[in-house]
Amino acid sequence: MKIIVLGSSAGGGFPQWNCNCRNCDGIRRHTITAKARTQSSIAVSSNGTDWALINASPDILAQIRATPALQPGRAKRDTGIAAVMLMDAQIDHVTGLLMLREGKPLPLYCTASVWEDLTTGLPLTRVLSHYCSVQWHPLQADRNSATAVQLPGIDGIRFTPMTLTSKAPPYSPHREMPQPGDNIGLMIENTANGKKVFYAPGLGEIEPHIETAMRMADCLLVDGTFWTEDEMIEQGLSKKKAAAMGHLPQSGDGGMIEVLDAIGPRRKILIHINNTNPILDEDSNERATLTQHGIEVAFDGMEINL
Ligand code: MLT
Ligand code: MN
Ligand code: ZN
Repeated sequence: MKIIVLGSSAGGGFPQWNCNCRNCDGIRRHTITAKARTQSSIAVSSNGTDWALINASPDILAQIRATPALQPGRAKRDTGIAAVMLMDAQIDHVTGLLMLREGKPLPLYCTASVWEDLTTGLPLTRVLSHYCSVQWHPLQADRNSATAVQLPGIDGIRFTPMTLTSKAPPYSPHREMPQPGDNIGLMIENTANGKKVFYAPGLGEIEPHIETAMRMADCLLVDGTFWTEDEMIEQGLSKKKAAAMGHLPQSGDGGMIEVLDAIGPRRKILIHINNTNPILDEDSNERATLTQHGIEVAFDGMEINL
């Protein structure tokens, strides 16, 4: 089983087009050591030819260009993307669907709650019905049971969606009335060897069923959005705290570093990193702290083989 990180940044990417925070300004002027990053998405395959696209980033076209494996070239019109699965209905995870409109009807796996957002608050599916159309495959996810799915063309990999606490997007009709399935995490399992990756780019709270899933996984690929709870406020960029945006920060009591420490040794990788996060500066103290705790920072093009 191979996972390629197509985009490791949170919404806005890095550098963000209109941002002159220390990181965004620093990468443009080469005053910090950092890698540019596109918006949040991964690709998963068992044979290296047929891929599940997990989240469809607005940067999808650049991501496909940067990832030759996604274009196997078997016919005049072709793609390696066999199916798309969504973790939520946020702009950074869904608007890439519009860029896939020249293709065949798109098999789309998402929860009823995300599907509702994509037919109401952000009606991408209605727009796409005039182009390629979308075939919705409902993902079942509730707190007490998780139903695994196998995707067409992706043999030997089991995908198990799990509800988690994060946040529905601002345009969601249920933004202030959270419902199971607004946000999910995903256990991705190689059925041949039992190896598992737990993927959750938006994770606001470590509920018991999520902790259990994290303990079962050989590799964690989890929310790395913010270093502190009030990072955006401190930098004068927003009035929102990390919790209000559905993200658990890395530092502080009960933060992601503590959570990952308690889970014990295994591969631990942060993904969906906001451009304000000091860990993007490879020479920062915060980045050194992660390294001391055995935590990696995902980058575009990173590969995970399990
Ligand atoms: C989030 O996950 O909170 C998003 O990245 C925010 C956004 O896309 O604006
Ligand atoms: Mn996001
Ligand atoms: Zn910035």
